[in-house]
Amino acid sequence: MVYQIYPRSFADSNHDGIGDLGGVRDRLGHLAWLGVDAIWLSPFYRSPMADFGYDVADYCDVDPLFGALDDIDGLIADAHALGIRVVLDWVPNHTSEQHPWFVESRSSTADPKREWYVWRDPSPSGGPPNNWRAAFSPVPAWTLDPTTGQYYLHCFLPQQPDLDWSNPRVVEAMHGVLRFWLDRGVDGVRIDVVHLLGKDPDLADDPPESIGLPHVGLNDRPETHPILRDLRRLVDGYEDDRMMVGEVYLLDVPRMAKYYGRGDELHLSFNFPALYAEWDADCWREVIDTTTGALDPIDAWPTWVLSNHDNPRHRNRYGGSESRARAAAVLLLGLRGTPFLYAGEELGLLDAEVPPDRVVDPGGRDGCRAPIPWDDSVGHGWTTDPWLPLPPESTVRNVAHLRSNPASILHLYRRLLEQRHASLALEQGDQTFLATPPGVLGWIRSTVGDDHRVILVNFTASIVELGADLDPVIAEHLVLVASDGVGEGGPAPRTLGPDQAVLLGPS
Ligand code: GLC
Ligand code: CA
Repeated sequence: MVYQIYPRSFADSNHDGIGDLGGVRDRLGHLAWLGVDAIWLSPFYRSPMADFGYDVADYCDVDPLFGALDDIDGLIADAHALGIRVVLDWVPNHTSEQHPWFVESRSSTADPKREWYVWRDPSPSGGPPNNWRAAFSPVPAWTLDPTTGQYYLHCFLPQQPDLDWSNPRVVEAMHGVLRFWLDRGVDGVRIDVVHLLGKDPDLADDPPESIGLPHVGLNDRPETHPILRDLRRLVDGYEDDRMMVGEVYLLDVPRMAKYYGRGDELHLSFNFPALYAEWDADCWREVIDTTTGALDPIDAWPTWVLSNHDNPRHRNRYGGSESRARAAAVLLLGLRGTPFLYAGEELGLLDAEVPPDRVVDPGGRDGCRAPIPWDDSVGHGWTTDPWLPLPPESTVRNVAHLRSNPASILHLYRRLLEQRHASLALEQGDQTFLATPPGVLGWIRSTVGDDHRVILVNFTASIVELGADLDPVIAEHLVLVASDGVGEGGPAPRTLGPDQAVLLGPS
């Protein structure tokens, strides 16, 4: 399981109201207790923070807000000592407008760095070169730079100019960045909007039916695949295991699947249709079937993600009840593939309610970025006024409180992770659906021999009889984990309660 940390919001070691690398380091012991295999750190590089670090001004240094290079070195060493791997967020599609490369690039059309970014003359009518839209707001993905009278491309904010990956110098420089971190001992990278790297050399308009949609959700070009194969060679050139997981933000699984190549592109890719699936058995069945059908069984290992720093937390999206958040934990950790867990899911956090005068993110994503409540003190581990308000229920929904209660959702996650580590079937085995009543999904995870596990999830708000079809499968099975903790250690149930999920194993 990979645990996503948004450093600004995780833990604050110097009490300035903003989380930092020292804070992450202090809490590694807790993550080891939980059973985390790897952490993915959202960006901590030098940045003017227009997009809270996804606008990088120096790829090879730490922003003073988060610490210094020594802190990341220490963090990597401490994590490794605890058996936790470290995955960094690598943002190769765009830099900050304050990156020295862009400062040089915009200085003149004759500058050697001009071609490192995408510059074009205005269209014949004097407007932007094409109809591409930026993310976050419905504005053109182009900004006119008065110094040279040309437009530059930015698929996100104007402060995030897109690099031109068709330029070998850009490729060389960015490979250097990747080596810088891999040589420092990081175990992998999460690659930001990786499907955006290759661009149409003609910069043709987006089709009329997609007018108004950001170009980032549409860009899916053959040019990206050779870029990925080169990156794969670089990463696999390290003898020990290193890994790339890509943010392929395409809401179509077969299109996303191409970014695994033939086992020679991304090692892993996020599966966004799962993040956007509703809490509904049929929706989930469809996403799981589509994923299984689209990914090569050998070359393309799936991933599952329910929440991240860009979307409302799934407890909110699924209607707000803790019982559903608990059942979702069994779902996420029971599926074949690598689960990604966004910090705070294990506490069953809801998004913070952010009053309009405290909204800071241009994309309006503040709610899910609320600080993690750590303890029962007044600020729950933060100054009384952290950079964003704390999430609701922090007096009871904080790490110390939930750790002291074995019936809590935090302990549920821990038990599930313990089970994953104890069973090869659950961690790596095949997956076959079982015949289940409507509103319930059930599947079996198995490897050669007798090692297998059964997962049953009731997506409905009613009690469901499991029925005779399942009897032969789950007879002589025990409840290893129940989402509500009820009946663990006892025989497999005949019914599932509303939003209840169980993990069963042979007795
Ligand atoms: C990715 C990140 C998001 C960021 C964007 C631009 O989608 O997850 O937070 O704003 O890329 O870098
Ligand atoms: Ca701090």
